[in-house]
Amino acid sequence: MSSLDRCTIHEHDVIVIGAGGAGLRAAIEASAAGVTVGVICKSLLGKAHTVMAEGGMAAAMGNVDDRDTWEVHFADTMRGGQYLNNSTMAERHAKDAPARVRELEGWGAVFDRTKDGKILQRNFGGHRYPRLAHVGDRTGLELIRTLQDHGIHQGLEVFMEMTVVTLLKSGGRIAGVFGYDRDRGRLHVWKAKAVILATGGLGKAFRITSNSWEGTGDGQSLAYHAGADLLDMEFVQFHPTGMVWPPSVRGILVTEGVRGEGGVLRNSEGKRFMFDDVPEAYRAQVATTEEEGWRYVCGDKNALRPPELLTRDHVARCINREVKAGRGSPHGGVYLDIAWIKEKIPNASEHIKRKLPSMYHQFRQLAGVDITNERMEVGPTTHYAMGGVAVDGNTQESTVPGLFAAGEVAAGLHGANRLGGNSLSDLVVFGKLAGEHAAKFAQAHTAVEVDPAEVEAHTRAIEAPFERSGSEGPFAIQYALQDVMQDLVGIVRTKDEMEQALVRIGQLRERCARVSVCGHREYNPGWHTALDVGCMLTISEAITRCALERRESRGAQFREDYPQKSAECATFNLIARKTADGSMEVRRRPLVPTRPDLAAIIEMMK
Ligand code: FUM
Repeated sequence: MSSLDRCTIHEHDVIVIGAGGAGLRAAIEASAAGVTVGVICKSLLGKAHTVMAEGGMAAAMGNVDDRDTWEVHFADTMRGGQYLNNSTMAERHAKDAPARVRELEGWGAVFDRTKDGKILQRNFGGHRYPRLAHVGDRTGLELIRTLQDHGIHQGLEVFMEMTVVTLLKSGGRIAGVFGYDRDRGRLHVWKAKAVILATGGLGKAFRITSNSWEGTGDGQSLAYHAGADLLDMEFVQFHPTGMVWPPSVRGILVTEGVRGEGGVLRNSEGKRFMFDDVPEAYRAQVATTEEEGWRYVCGDKNALRPPELLTRDHVARCINREVKAGRGSPHGGVYLDIAWIKEKIPNASEHIKRKLPSMYHQFRQLAGVDITNERMEVGPTTHYAMGGVAVDGNTQESTVPGLFAAGEVAAGLHGANRLGGNSLSDLVVFGKLAGEHAAKFAQAHTAVEVDPAEVEAHTRAIEAPFERSGSEGPFAIQYALQDVMQDLVGIVRTKDEMEQALVRIGQLRERCARVSVCGHREYNPGWHTALDVGCMLTISEAITRCALERRESRGAQFREDYPQKSAECATFNLIARKTADGSMEVRRRPLVPTRPDLAAIIEMMK
């Protein structure tokens, strides 16, 4: 019996891999265009990293400050990304985000309101005006809930707890995908004319992360092995505030919404250290006194923002510096204090619980800390990948015909650093675009046949760990890789350390090729991890090679050996690609020039 005969075969026009915000929005759009759509999720429907975008969705609606426009949002996004962004994507994102918020509202999302009944918007780092439409600190969850309800009524076919291990191609085009179900270990082939990757991020390649177990870089790795270009993989975002204590919850996100509502960062000496280091580009926009920062939080349009609301890359590095200088908290973080607003407003406890209900419960239940009375201990956590699959900003198609990508797995919008809140808007703006163009692709093309030999080869590869015995299991390799990436390719990078990392990744790859798993195929986490580690190794190599090639500090990449920005490095993005001999090459791709009208907006906003 051939491997293909052993597979359950499914046929759709469009297959979406991933059921977070981007995947669901893409599936809804494709399905509305009249094509058949299947959605494959690694976990249960609704469990996605989207829920970790807690504080809100950025959209220039101008509900709280009517000076906000798409142009300001566009310019903020470009500056946050240190001008390596795809400016066409940044333009579309800023223009379309308000309509996508209203669409979600129309589909049933219940946003917080202003006193006069408009959608409320809050402050976030790097955004000039209060811009984040939100639902307390559970915005991502509300977005998922809304899209899920809407999508299910649209007749999407959902495949839960299934992992895709390879993209199938024929004649250079996408033919479908091959994978297995996690509960029974049975093989599946989904034939499709177009595939949309919406698999999210890769945080699990690092030891400390806000990502849960699914975030193993699957989509980036699938695309790379299918011959697609990866873009700017060096840019990995370390969110400044994750939990640091107790150890079992280290890395869990503490929303930027805490700082948006007035939370301040202090070191062990009680000092608000963020006032000490304000980058030149933001100096004119940042308060110089605590009083002014507080007035900004309270909505005074003439006040400047507190320094805690600078971009994430900068805040994370400042926290790192305080900890390294011995001014950290007992468990290796710094203090985040929202309780102090009691000095400023009556009923502060109730206010905090209403604005930040998840944070209140998270700290109460996981750390025994009452954030209405006590300070939180926080430190940077790997949160988001700005780099990913290179796409055409007008269609979301990758460099492989029929393969599309949207959301975190795709690259371009955020450049060297993403502004908080631009992720939820990214998901729905570009999820919609990917769905529209994947459907068009499917309507314009006939299906191509799946090659049985390809399925045979991949079946052998994924079953191989069962046939080996006596060698090590996959978890040791996964933990070792997480240590390598955290310690050698983390917030502060150097050539020497990254070269060591590449050697270690190579050694881990050899160990991975010998890995064995025991037990049977039915829900076997060891087997699943043995396969996930392959993806993590691929994307870790890409991150490291690109970080070595970018000899400068910009956005999320800080090189101790090249601490400044370089004018030369401002002219290119980096592409990682699989060569014919199977090795990875990294090459520079000249930045796509920004249209003169967009360049004029950037200049004017400076
Ligand atoms: O801090 C947060 O709530 C995260 C938001 C985001 O990553 O966009």
